[in-house]
Amino acid sequence: MTLFDKYGGVPTIRLIVKAFYKQVLSRPNLRRYFEGVDMDRLIEHQVEFIAFALGKPKTHYPDSNLKEGHRGLGITSASYDEAVGILHGILSNFQVEHDDINTILGVLYSKRHLIVERKV
Ligand code: HEM
Repeated sequence: MTLFDKYGGVPTIRLIVKAFYKQVLSRPNLRRYFEGVDMDRLIEHQVEFIAFALGKPKTHYPDSNLKEGHRGLGITSASYDEAVGILHGILSNFQVEHDDINTILGVLYSKRHLIVERKV
């Protein structure tokens, strides 16, 4: 069973995405990456981010796709950490177990090098 299933599947994802999306857009540092990206794509991205983090389904995100999909965006390590930090707070609010949070953060950090292009 994936964490996705354990924590309620699509309905839970929807709530987490909503909270995540709201916080990402409230941070100018993160919002800037999505300027010029249309609303549907933006929401789709938040869903992808959360679904990936919760382990559903990994086969959709080969490393080469993650790398290609973010090439040229100039995402900094600080921005990556900020996005993961937002998710961390939300997962705590949703009472996701401590060990599961650590697993999720570990999965996200293992992909960091594919997405981050700049140190600062
Ligand atoms: C492991 C974490 C992440 C996953 C799984 C993920 C997933 C994706 C996917 C599937 C795409 C679409 C690629 C394509 O066009 O085929 C994408 C694009 C994109 N991602 Fe991420 N992403 C992650 C982290 C981030 C972070 C941290 C940021 C910004 C701080 C970000 C910003 C973007 C932007 C701006 C696009 C381009 C959107 C567009 O032009 O439509 N991503 N991401």
